[in-house]
Amino acid sequence: MSLTQKLRDKFMRSPEMEPWPGLIEKYRQWLPVSGKTPVITLKEGCTPLIRVKSIERRIKNHAKVYVKYDGLNPTGSFKDRGMTMAISKAKEEGCEAVICASTGNTSASAAAYAKRAGMRAFVLIPDGYVAQGKLAQALVYGAEIIAIRGNFDSALDIVRELNKKYPITLVNSVNPFRLQGQKTAAFEIIDELTDAPDWLCIPMGNAGNISAYWLGFKEYNKAGKSKKLPRMMGFQASGSAPLVYGKKIENPETIATAIRIGNPVNQSKAINAKKESKGGFLDVTDEEIIKAYNILGCEEGIFCEPASAASVAGLLKRSNEVPQNSTIVCVLTGNGLKDPDCAINNNSAKFYKDIPAESKKISELIGY
Ligand SMILES: Cc1ncc(COP(=O)(O)O)c(C=O)c1O
Repeated sequence: MSLTQKLRDKFMRSPEMEPWPGLIEKYRQWLPVSGKTPVITLKEGCTPLIRVKSIERRIKNHAKVYVKYDGLNPTGSFKDRGMTMAISKAKEEGCEAVICASTGNTSASAAAYAKRAGMRAFVLIPDGYVAQGKLAQALVYGAEIIAIRGNFDSALDIVRELNKKYPITLVNSVNPFRLQGQKTAAFEIIDELTDAPDWLCIPMGNAGNISAYWLGFKEYNKAGKSKKLPRMMGFQASGSAPLVYGKKIENPETIATAIRIGNPVNQSKAINAKKESKGGFLDVTDEEIIKAYNILGCEEGIFCEPASAASVAGLLKRSNEVPQNSTIVCVLTGNGLKDPDCAINNNSAKFYKDIPAESKKISELIGY
C-alpha cells in the first residue's frame, strides 16, 4: 500500500467505514460471548483520550497526561461498559429481572440496559446520597427504585441476599461479566497510544474498575499488543478510604458520593492489581478533589463528576514521584452533568444576577 493510501486510511473517515458497533462487537474475541448471546448495546465505549496540558504544567517532568473521558458513555459513566455485558449475558440466560445496589451510576446504567432488553430493573440506593442527575436517569429509564435508610454497603448486602433467594440477576461488579466489559477501556487506551501508559490513575469505590483495567492491560500485554504494563494508581476520598487505610469504614463520607463506599467487594482483586503492577493507593481530600474538578472544567473544558476528579487529584498529589517523560492516563469515570448540585456549589465563575437588559450596563459590567 502506498504511503498516501496509508495516511488516508489513518486520518480520513471514508463513507464506507463501518460505524462504531459497540464494545461487544468490537472486542468480541476477548469477551465471553458466543453467537447465541443477544447483544444488548447502546453503542457504549470508544470514548476519547484527551491530552490535558494544564495538568502536565503542574507536574513537570515532561510527562504526557491524558484523561480517558468515560463520562461520554451512553448513560454518562463507565458502568455502561460492564452493563452491556452483564445484561446481554442475563438475557442469554433467560433472566427477566435485574437488581443492584448503587451510589447512582450503576442504577442509571442497569435501568437503561435492562429496559432495552425488556427486563425489570430494581435498584437500591442510599436515601439522600444519590446525585440528582443519576436519580433522574433511573426514573426516566423506568427503574423500580428503593431508597433505603442505610448506606451503599448495607444496600449491597441486601441485594446479594435477594439474588440468592429469587430469580433476579445481580448486576453489581460482583457479577463477573461486568469486569469483562469494563476491561475494554484498557484495550482502547492501548489501541490508541500503541502501548500501555506508565501510570493508570483511577478512582476506587467498590474497586471493580481498577480490577477490570488490570485484567485488560494484562490480557493485551500477554497477546503482544503492548510492550509494558502500567503501574495501577488507585485513589479514594479521605473520608471513605478503606483500601488506603486497610480497614472497613463504618460511616464513609465524601462529596464524591459515587465512591462513598466503606467495604469494597473487589478489594482482594484491587490489592492484587496494586501488588502485581507495583502501583499504589492514596487518599485525596474533598478539597483536593474539587480543586482538580475545577482545573479540568475551567482550564480544559472537561466536566466530570467529583468522584472522577479523584484520579487527577491523586496524580497531582503524587506529582513528585512521576518519572521523567512518562505517559499517564487518568480515568474520568462519570460525566459532570450527573451532579449539578456539586457544580453549582463549587465553582469560581462570575455570575452577575438581576442585571438590566441594557447593552451599556452589560458592556460596563464586562469591562468594555
Ligand atoms: C463516577 C464513578 N467513579 C468511580 C466509581 C468507582 O468504581 P468502582 O466501584 O468500580 O471502584 C464509581 C462507582 O460507582 C462511579 O460511579
